[in-house]
Amino acid sequence: MVKPIGVFDSGVGGTSIWKEVAKMLPLESTIYLADSANAPYGEKSKEEILQLSIKNTEFLLNRGCKLIVVACNTATTNAIDYLRDNYSVPFIGIEPAIKPAALQTKTKKVGVLATKGTLSSSLFHNTSKLYAEGITVLEQEGKGLVKLIESGDIESDEMKTLLKQFLDPMLEQDIDCLVLGCTHYPYLIPVLKQLLPPNITIIDSGEAVARQTKAVLEHNSLLAQENNVPTHIFYSNKEIDVLKQLVNAPTAQISFLVF
Ligand code: DGL
Repeated sequence: MVKPIGVFDSGVGGTSIWKEVAKMLPLESTIYLADSANAPYGEKSKEEILQLSIKNTEFLLNRGCKLIVVACNTATTNAIDYLRDNYSVPFIGIEPAIKPAALQTKTKKVGVLATKGTLSSSLFHNTSKLYAEGITVLEQEGKGLVKLIESGDIESDEMKTLLKQFLDPMLEQDIDCLVLGCTHYPYLIPVLKQLLPPNITIIDSGEAVARQTKAVLEHNSLLAQENNVPTHIFYSNKEIDVLKQLVNAPTAQISFLVF
């Protein structure tokens, strides 16, 4: 049997990463785990995030995954070191894309929208220190955004009001790049484009994660063979409608299961 790539997130957001992975690695089979019953992770303690990440990892390893993409900034920044130290498969993580933003900004001011769990992590702070020397990084917790996205509430007035409240102070301070530091947020790009002036560049890390996944599979001789017919299974421990809606892929070889 060809082993799948495992992908997990606190919920539906990591599908934004899954899409990039599936696009870059079309021969690979995948298993996606949406821990929506426990979302949002962003407001939980480091220990709780770690325990949930361990549970998700074991769920995917029990189903034969050869590599795990932690498609959640909050879980990566709080748990990936532990996971790498304690399990033998390779792990690919995702962190807010501070480095590309620091390279692109002309005003030397970048905004980062992420969860409390990510913004308070030492991994995030170390990355910011390393790559954003001489750049002002304005951190904004996206409190409430994940909950709305989990209920499929993406373009509502409530969402727009919340976003405006988060964006305005950063715009007043002259940011020209906005880093989306949570895998749920790429689904907000159409709304963000309505709310942001056209000179603001929106940056996320999805494609970089897919590239890194491919490189690590190659390096470990784990790539699927040319003749593999890929299958994709999406597991959720809550209702599955929003997940289906966001994955929005042809149904052949894709199944959705509630557990
Ligand atoms: N998708 C998760 C992330 O990238 C969302 C966190 C949450 O559940 O609060 O951080």
